[in-house]
Amino acid sequence: MADVPQGQALLDGIERLRRELDAVILAHYYQDSEIQDLADFVGDSLQLSQQAAKTGAKVIVFCGVHFMAETAKILNPNKQVLLPDLDAGCSLADRCPPDQFAKWLEGYPDHKVVSYINCSAGVKALSDVICTSSNAEKIVNSFPRHTKIVFAPDRHLGAWVEKKTGRQLVKWPGFCIVHEQFTERQLQKLKVRHPEAKLIAHPECEASVLAIADFVGSTRGLLEYVKTSPAKSFIVATEVGILHLMSKARPDAELIPAPPSSGCNCSICPYMRLNSLEKLYLCMRDRKPEIMLPEELRVRALAPVQRMLELSA
Ligand code: 13P
Ligand code: SF4
Repeated sequence: MADVPQGQALLDGIERLRRELDAVILAHYYQDSEIQDLADFVGDSLQLSQQAAKTGAKVIVFCGVHFMAETAKILNPNKQVLLPDLDAGCSLADRCPPDQFAKWLEGYPDHKVVSYINCSAGVKALSDVICTSSNAEKIVNSFPRHTKIVFAPDRHLGAWVEKKTGRQLVKWPGFCIVHEQFTERQLQKLKVRHPEAKLIAHPECEASVLAIADFVGSTRGLLEYVKTSPAKSFIVATEVGILHLMSKARPDAELIPAPPSSGCNCSICPYMRLNSLEKLYLCMRDRKPEIMLPEELRVRALAPVQRMLELSA
């Protein structure tokens, strides 16, 4: 990339810009390890939105995907929110367009709408409350038992919540292209080869995968499990970026990334990995790409996000 320093000069440049802009760098666990290493905070979707809600920095640089940075903007209309690559989308958010979602909801007029945070501001604005993978069960259970609930856009997380709560949800048929690649068959084979290993999985995986997991949790939940478990071997069914902090926390443990069905030995979110150190530097230097939202939409999307933060406090 033209005009971008390399090596240590690049890291020094990002550091200088962080000071000059009075910026906080928030990163998700699925980012490249060098981005995680220089971030002010690394976390799961809930933690990142909680950090965004309370930061005193003037600029939020979001190393994650679009819906995460957009949530930070929903919470911070007066701060500049930068995303290193504006194309860093998410298969769940992209396949639930607000206009189609609004039409679909017309079929469920007497339902409450719980939306996974992996959705656009337009879908958030149509929701009663937002949830993440770490609080979905709690959020659904915050409604009285008889309440009819629509859950969007991840059908697998929805099914997991149904199992945990014993409630029925009407589910939008979305899925994550990364987590849907893990299959029970391949994981069973891996378990035979590593009988001592604990299988840990993100709830965006299919029900058949979750059924054979020793633990199911958000990215943060999976990391905490590895940190505190007496086991010495783990099969990890989520995006491989999480292995960076897992291996730092448990250098003694064997961490086995779950193989996706496509045959390659990697499970990388193509959207998350659009961000790079170089693009991080450029977005801070040029103060773009910036997340912008019409105020009327932001205000409608804010209420369900705030409701989630209150219920998660
Ligand atoms: P977490 O909230 O568990 O970090 O999940 C975000 C995500 O996009 C998983 O694919
Ligand atoms: Fe979206 Fe899946 Fe990537 Fe998470 S891993 S950001 S759900 S596409």
